[in-house]
Amino acid sequence: MDKFKIQGGRRLEGTVQISGAKNAALPIMAAALLTSEKVQLENIPRVRDIITMAKLLAHMKAHVVAQDLPPSAMTIQTEQISHTEAPYELVKTMRASVLTLGPLVARFGYARVSLPGGCAIGARPIDLHIQALEKMGAKIAIEHGYVEARAERLRGAEIHFEKITVTGTENILMAAVLAEGETVLTNAAREPEVTDLAELLVKMGAKIEGAGTETIRVRGVEKLCGTSHRVIPDRIEAGTFLVAGAITGGEILLTSCEPKHLTAVIEKLTACGVEIRAEGEGELRVRVPGKLTAADVTTEEYPGFATDMQAQYMTLATQAQGTSVITETIFENRFMHASEMVRMGASIEVDGRKAVVHGPTPLSGTTIIASDLRASASLVLAGLVANNTTYVDRVYHIDRGYERIENKLRDLGAHIERL
Ligand code: UD1
Repeated sequence: MDKFKIQGGRRLEGTVQISGAKNAALPIMAAALLTSEKVQLENIPRVRDIITMAKLLAHMKAHVVAQDLPPSAMTIQTEQISHTEAPYELVKTMRASVLTLGPLVARFGYARVSLPGGCAIGARPIDLHIQALEKMGAKIAIEHGYVEARAERLRGAEIHFEKITVTGTENILMAAVLAEGETVLTNAAREPEVTDLAELLVKMGAKIEGAGTETIRVRGVEKLCGTSHRVIPDRIEAGTFLVAGAITGGEILLTSCEPKHLTAVIEKLTACGVEIRAEGEGELRVRVPGKLTAADVTTEEYPGFATDMQAQYMTLATQAQGTSVITETIFENRFMHASEMVRMGASIEVDGRKAVVHGPTPLSGTTIIASDLRASASLVLAGLVANNTTYVDRVYHIDRGYERIENKLRDLGAHIERL
């Protein structure tokens, strides 16, 4: 199993190009199931979750062609689908496989998708996806660990999400575009990834209004067509590099990013003494003119501070002067990185959904274990500021969502290698 060896203490300097957003690309790839025509995509990050989604589509006999060189293109055509099933072997490695449920049942009238099961960061049920499909007329059975959904044609419905769910909103949006009549989604997720998916669907001929707000209206159509689309930049990867620049006292220019998706992160880092300046189109420069200072943070749905940036922010808090209270409101068990940081010398007390970080503390290198995708990013960041050598184990988690992170960090001057 791969690990990273990091020699900490290097100031990061230079330019890093941000990749396409994994969490936008995944539902967009699933949306290719909604048409028999070709969907041509660009800015698809080369990360493991994307390979898993491509495998899943190929398992259904979709034709998927990916090209590694810029513009990181991918073409998907789902003309002949032989079986509308997402097997456990693929779903267990990536929860987002559940995004095939909505489009499959909408276009083919039948889907069988393995339940994702537990996950390191909490229970993560899909009850809201299932309830919404039932309201749209699907007959759902849960048997042998699989969700089976059947519907001759889904019907439009009023869907109120009890809780804001990103993939739930995306799944039901994809189901609604081919349903009969109007679907209104309320308390919908407003994440930029939802809006990007809606933009693709509109190009495919869907009738959607209000994506990016809490109420989305969809008028179902009979058929969708092929199109081409460029995926938005990854705001979490960008946020991770902003933190990398800040904690190493470096100066990094991020290119190909979307500053307006990073408002909450930029505001919080600025409150900690980080200077972040917009330069050219899609560019942000980060540096720290003085000392880092503590600030409290609470994770929220977009446009609030993303839960996917919470772990990386914790690394920054260990290097900031004062006490930072970090409150996690989205997932119930998302502080596993804290105990690893404590092993490196951080002062962090976790109490339920709150973590209190006292800084600054020097971190010392040791062997640490990554428990999920964003936790592993935070531990790599910790390794960058630790003295002597840090080994980050189980980096397959980071490979799920960061494209060539060690190469990008090395280009900025970090001493990091994959073992
Ligand atoms: C997506 C992102 C993930 C991010 C998360 C929150 C993708 C592929 N993943 O995950 O990176 O951390 O949004 O921003 O885009 N819930 C239910 N029932 C449901 C669905 C969700 O109770 O049917 C709960 C979850 O347990 C969680 C909360 O709602 O507590 C939010 O989860 P959700 O937005 O669905 O997260 P994902 O879409 O899985």
